[in-house]
Amino acid sequence: MTASLRGTRIVVSAGPTYEDIDPVRFIGNRSSGRMGFAIAAAAAQRGAQVVLVAGPVHLDTPAGVTRIDVRSAAQMQAAVLAALPADVYIGAAAVADFAPAQAAPRKLKKSGDGDGLVLELVRTPDILASVARHAPRPRLVVGFAAETHDVAHYARDKLARKQLDLVAANLVGVAGSGFESESNALTVYGAQFERALGPAPKTQLAGELLDLVAARLPRTQRDDVRVDGTLPVRTPPDRAP
Ligand code: PMT
Repeated sequence: MTASLRGTRIVVSAGPTYEDIDPVRFIGNRSSGRMGFAIAAAAAQRGAQVVLVAGPVHLDTPAGVTRIDVRSAAQMQAAVLAALPADVYIGAAAVADFAPAQAAPRKLKKSGDGDGLVLELVRTPDILASVARHAPRPRLVVGFAAETHDVAHYARDKLARKQLDLVAANLVGVAGSGFESESNALTVYGAQFERALGPAPKTQLAGELLDLVAARLPRTQRDDVRVDGTLPVRTPPDRAP
């Protein structure tokens, strides 16, 4: 059964962020953007108005989605906050946690044989936490957690510490899930909730995650409402567009 998201505005982040060291080097990660793009595509198919804030990736924009391309964590935060207010925020991006304190204006040169390079790194803005604190707050703030171990512990910690409604946790560093792969396996955590999804293609998981999102939105918010404020006759969910 496919839940409709008509009448909702959903902001999704996807892909990596690149934090420049100098004009030719950056700190990045292996996110392809597939998970976030699949969520944006599935949300648009369900009738949501979707803004996709994408780091540097090589993917086509899904049909019906407004895409904003960014490079760094700071740019991603600015674009996400500018896209609010929204009913739902889903943070699927792999945002770099640290950035060089200053990007060098010219290419850093090797100074001598065997010499290393010490970079001063600073924390990037926590986009997810800033969305959860934003006024007006999206009704649902959904984070991801990419973990190599103790998945449930770290996911529940993020849920509470960042004041999220759901956290979709995935294992990274193993074949067939997480970064770059076409497939994934998620465990979704809420305050009194836990649901394993997959392993399955990211396109399928995106729909299953959105079913959990839709179930947490009031029906009046996710269905079409007439201009006079009355609700139309509902389309049976199995015949919804
Ligand atoms: O892009 P793919 O190749 O398809 O891979 C998908 C994925 C593995 C990137 C995706 O499923 C995923 O797990 N995304 C989150 C990756 C991540 O950065 O996890 P984290 O545990 O470090 O971050 C936790 C949450 O905080 C995430 O929602 C992240 O978007 C958010 N965050 C993190 C740091 C920061 N400065 N700002 C944030 O908003």
